[in-house]
Formats: sequence, C-alpha cells, structure tokens
Amino acid sequence: EPEIITNKDQMRKWSRAMRSKGKTIGLVPTMGYLHEGHLSLIKEAHKHTNLVVVSIYVNPGQFSPTEDLSTYPSDLLGDISKLMAVPGGVDVVFNPQNLYDYGNDTNGENCGGGNGEREKSGDGVVSCVEERGLGHETWVRVERLEKNMCGKSRPVFFRGVATVVSKLFNIVDPDVAVFGKKDYQQWRIIQRMVRDLDFPIEVIGSEIVRDNDGLAMSSRNVYLSPEEREKALSINKSLLSAKSAAEKGLVDCRVLRDTVIQSTTEAGGRIDYAEIVEQESLEAVNEIRNPVVFCVAAWFGKVRLIDNMEINI
Ligand code: PAJ
Repeated sequence: EPEIITNKDQMRKWSRAMRSKGKTIGLVPTMGYLHEGHLSLIKEAHKHTNLVVVSIYVNPGQFSPTEDLSTYPSDLLGDISKLMAVPGGVDVVFNPQNLYDYGNDTNGENCGGGNGEREKSGDGVVSCVEERGLGHETWVRVERLEKNMCGKSRPVFFRGVATVVSKLFNIVDPDVAVFGKKDYQQWRIIQRMVRDLDFPIEVIGSEIVRDNDGLAMSSRNVYLSPEEREKALSINKSLLSAKSAAEKGLVDCRVLRDTVIQSTTEAGGRIDYAEIVEQESLEAVNEIRNPVVFCVAAWFGKVRLIDNMEINI
C-alpha cells in the first residue's frame, strides 16, 4: 500500500529520509482520475529509480477562470486502488490540499468564489490562483516554447504547469521525473525548464497510451458522449494517414495540415490548431526535412482533446 502524504513538510521529510538511505526517487506528476496512460509512466519510472512518488493535484494555477477546473474529474479512492495494482506499486501518493496556500487568511474555496481581490499578474494573465486572491505571485515561464499551440489558446496554462512542476520538484526532490508525450509541448517545456534552471533531475518522455480504437487516453474522455467519442477517433486516424503520407514522400506541411483539418472538421470536430513543428524547438516548419511532431487540438462538444504523432523522417 502506498503511503498517502498530504503535507509539504512531511513529503520533504520522507524524501530526505529516503535519500539519506541512498535511495533514488522517481516522480510522476498527475492531476488524478488515473488511467492506463498515467500507469505507464509509473512503470517507466520503476525502470530508473528505487522508489516512485505519484502526485495527484489538480493545479488551479494552470486553469483560467473560464476553464474546467470545477468540473475536472476526480476519484482519489479509485486512483489509489489502481496504483496498488500497478506492478511494483508506488511508494507515496502525494496529494496536497493547496500548494498555493502559505497560511494567508484569504483562501477562497472554488475558482471564482474567493473573497480576495482578483489580482492580475504583470502581464495580465489570470489563473484560478489570482482569482482566489491568494498571495502567490511567482511564476515560471518558458518564454518561447510556451508561445504557440496550447499556449496560444490557453495563455495561463504553461505558466501554471511550469510553476507547479517546479514546486513539486522542490518539495519531492526526485532524481527522475516522467511525463507523457501525449502532452508533447508540456514535456518539451519541462525538459527545457529543467535545463535552464539547473534542476538536478532527469526528465523522461514516455510514449502515448491509446485505447484499442486509437483514441489517446485522457481523463477528459469521460465527458465525451459515445457519438462524440466516435467522431474524436478522426484525430488519430487522420494523423496516422498524414504520417504514412509523409513517409511516402509528401513533405508539404500545408497539404498535410489541410487533410487533418478537413477530416477532423468533417467528423464534427472544431479544430483549435493543427501544427507540424520541430520536435525540440517546436518551431513550425513548411516542409518535413527533419524529425517533426504533428500536434492537434480539437473540440468535440464541450471537450477539448489533444493528440500528436512524431514523424521521424
Ligand atoms: P495529467 O493530465 O493528469 O497527466 C499527467 C501525466 O500523464 C502527464 O505527463 C501526461 O502527459 C501523462 N498522460 C496523460 N495521458 C496520457 C496517455 N494517454 N499516454 C501517456 N501519458 C499520458 O499533465 C498534467 O496532468 C498536468 O499538467 C501536470 C503535469 C500534473 C501539472 O499539473
């Protein structure tokens, strides 16, 4: 059974104690409502370290007040029983209450429901942390990598992710941290942050886990109706045909993007973006000459899904 730790200081104590015994620690950060995709990251972590910590924390810092923080699915008991069934198990579930609470007395419960003043950060970006009027005002930004794709449609998102992951790194002090390539831009941003800020942590990107029908697993998939789910398969299908077309020599990104946009739209999805970018720099390219990743975000009903495919030419 995993030890469940809800307190930052206790988490730090545990890590210190384990490190002094010479143990290495792997961290898998999650927002819970775990599925096979998350569990695959834990299996990956076990390959690299003696101990594995899974954090479960729905981070208000990465949601804007108009996004789905309040309806984000959660099931802590279900998550714990899934974690107990993973080969090798997990050593600690770190499930903090509020990582942005430093003992201030203005402490709104729900996004938008806080009694504190809504403070804009210097650049006008507002997450549910500012909305709650907490005293937190330090943010980590990975300036160029966070500009395009998900960063364009969700301006607070990567700032919140980079910040909460920094906090988790400081609290848990892991040797290795594992992220899914499902959130490709997020993985690259964390990799860059770790390099740029000298975190002594190895960041590992782990392959996308899909359901049998090809849909990339996501906690948000539960909110798809059966019809929407069927339509959503168009993303993976069209990415797969784009990949094989590219491998056969079709390197014109405008054509490849148009095909994916068209089939997703015809299936009833609303495209947020469809970009072919270099794998590390995430710069958009016009022609596929080097390894790229084809990233897509699209709405099906009220659910926004992302998926991607590496094309290694
Ligand atoms: P969450 O969406 O819960 O995802 C946690 C981790 O699981 C991420 O690294 C994500 O890429 C990975 N993951 C999700 N679905 C996957 C799939 N189908 N295959 C492989 N990996 C998958 O991403 C977050 O939480 C948050 O932004 C977080 C990093 C925890 C910061 O709050």
